[in-house]
This record gives sequence, C-alpha cells and structure tokens, in this order.
Amino acid sequence: MGSRKGSLGGLAEMKDSYWSDKRVFVTGYEGFLGSWLTKVLIEKGARVIGLDNARQRPLSILEGWRRKIKGIKGSVVSYRLINRIFEKYRPEIVFHLAAQSIVGLAKRYPLKALRVNVLGTANLLEAARNMDCLEAMVVASSDKAYGSHRRLPYRETTPLKGEYPYDVSKASADLICRAYFKTFKVPVGVTRCGNIYGPGDFHFSRIVPDAIRKALANEVFLIRSDGRFTRDYVFVSDIVSGYLLLARLMKKKHLAGGAFNFSNGKPVSVLTLVKKIYRLCQQEPKYKILNQAKSEIRHQYLEAAKARRILSWRPEYGLTRGLKETIAWYRIHF
Ligand SMILES: NC(=O)c1ccc[n+]([C@@H]2O[C@H](COP(=O)([O-])OP(=O)(O)OC[C@H]3O[C@@H](n4cnc5c(N)ncnc54)[C@H](O)[C@@H]3O)[C@@H](O)[C@H]2O)c1
Repeated sequence: MGSRKGSLGGLAEMKDSYWSDKRVFVTGYEGFLGSWLTKVLIEKGARVIGLDNARQRPLSILEGWRRKIKGIKGSVVSYRLINRIFEKYRPEIVFHLAAQSIVGLAKRYPLKALRVNVLGTANLLEAARNMDCLEAMVVASSDKAYGSHRRLPYRETTPLKGEYPYDVSKASADLICRAYFKTFKVPVGVTRCGNIYGPGDFHFSRIVPDAIRKALANEVFLIRSDGRFTRDYVFVSDIVSGYLLLARLMKKKHLAGGAFNFSNGKPVSVLTLVKKIYRLCQQEPKYKILNQAKSEIRHQYLEAAKARRILSWRPEYGLTRGLKETIAWYRIHF
C-alpha cells in the first residue's frame, strides 16, 4: 500500500468518465466499507452526498477527503430525511451501506437492528421509487442472509434462510429490494459478501482487527467459538471494485433485481486465520478457545462465479497480501 491512508491497490487514483460528476448518494459513508467506497468515488470524480448517523471518525480512511463530500448527519430510519435528500440532490447512483453491521449487537438489540437494517432499506427504496434520474441502487446484503446450509458454497440461487437477528434483518432487506424491483421497477441490485477486512475497520469486535491488535501487543487472542467455524475473507478494495462494477453495469446489462456474491471462495477456519495473523505480525500464536459462540452459523463461504462471468470481477487480493497490508496500517495507526 502506497500511502499511510491507503491506495486501494491501483483501483482508484484516476478520474473516470463514467463517474465524473455523477451524483452519488452513499449511506453509511463514515463506516469501514463506506469510507473506502466514498474515497474511491471522489478520486474518480463523483459528487458524493453521504449520510451517516455517526460523527466523523478520527483516523478514518476519509481523513483529508471530507471537504469534498456533502456529508449529512442523520438516520436512514427517518423517511422524511431520506426523501428530502433524494428530492434535493437527485442522486443518479445510490449505495446503501448504513446498517447495524455487528452480529453481536444485533443479537443484543434486535429491534434497533431491524429498524435500521430493514426499515432503513425500505425507506431508501420507497424514496427511490419515483426518481427517474436514478440509474442504479446497490444495497449491501450479506452472506448471513443465506443462513445455514449443508450445501456450500452459497450461490445466488441458494434460498435465504437467515435465522438470527442480523441474518434475518439482512435477508428481509434483501427480499424487500426484490419486491421494489419486481413491483415498481426500482433499479436495485444486492451484494452478498463474506467477511470484509482491510485498513480502517474500527470494529474491534471483528476477528481481523481484534486479532491484529492482540498480536501486535503480543497478547492472548480469545476465540469465542471452538476455532473451527469457517468464513470467507475478502479484502475491502476488491469489494469496492465489485460495488462500482455492479452500479455501473446495472442498466447496461439489465442486472436490476439481481443479487451478486463477492468472495475469494476460499473458506478459512478461525484458528487458521488467527495463527496466520500472529505469524504475519512476527509473533508466536497465542490464543484461548472459549467455545462460547451461540446463535452463529458454523460454516459459510460463497461462490462468486456470477460476478466473475457477468461483471468480469476478479479479486486482486489473496489472504496473505491483504492481511499484510491491513497489519501495516494497524501498525502505524495503533
Ligand atoms: N464488513 C463486513 O464484513 C460485511 C460483510 C457483509 C455485509 N456487510 C454489510 O456492508 C455494509 C457496510 O459494512 P461495514 O463493515 O462498513 O459496517 P460499518 O458498521 O463500519 O458501517 C456502517 C455505517 O452505517 C452507519 N449507520 C448505522 N446506523 C445508521 C443509521 N440508522 N443511519 C445512518 N447511518 C447509520 C454507521 O455509523 C456506520 O458508519 C453493512 O450494511 C453491512 O451489514 C458488511
């Protein structure tokens, strides 16, 4: 990675005629993925309107970029606010990322998660319904929306069977997108990704930032599960490129109403990941298995053949390269 703030592996840093002067509305723009996406959009020349209910985070990927964003502080739960933003800024592209994105918090506060993740998405779709300027809306669903299945990897045709609060909130929002496309022809597509990691994620309840922080401090990492749960890990810039491709090709390739998986397609166990992170931090792995994880899916990974075929999307980052760049960022910032 070129700079302290991250260069996104050559993805951005150039103006792009498609994005130049495009009116783009990003919800959750202060978040982990939102900040990367917003930064790349600005670099490509888009005019970004961002909505988030959080204050500006220090050490964010957006540091130094915020003056180029029309940032609005508010909640996606307010339909009035969303509608006002649509009417005032008339976005051509919408990326809806705002969510209660932490599985554990959604379990602790299910009503809040449902309000934000489900009602928030419905508000966006409802406001988008009569916007003839709208070319594409991309909504962040999740691999969790699929729920537990014996047959893996998940394909886009795998039924949505979320069972726990976060999973059900994402599955519901995902289905509501489909309803708004089928019924009102809102040009919306959903993304379903595995665990996204990379510089700038401040959720230390997530395994990658947490394990890096512990490894750099040479402390013991507590594994909540039995260590054998498997997940799919994908580097943030690869996801940003997927979102941009989906938005850009939605109209041209008639992709509205569809879902796209984005992943490396390689499941990794918690134990393998933790050991790898410690080694890349030049530490002997130190961990304790608590075996306390409940209300969580044991095995998950996705197949991204559809994104590869239709969007010509390819992840640039393998796990080792992605983790090295992520660790380098946390080393500097923490
Ligand atoms: N990070 C992952 O591994 C992952 C994987 C699959 C799907 N997703 C989804 O992708 C999206 C982005 O994830 P992330 O990792 O950047 O999460 P994040 O928590 O870092 O970002 C979400 C942002 O939404 C904002 N937000 C929360 N409630 C809001 C509200 N009511 N109104 C306005 N803003 C609100 C938060 O302040 C935050 O800045 C989420 O929808 C998440 O569910 C993430």
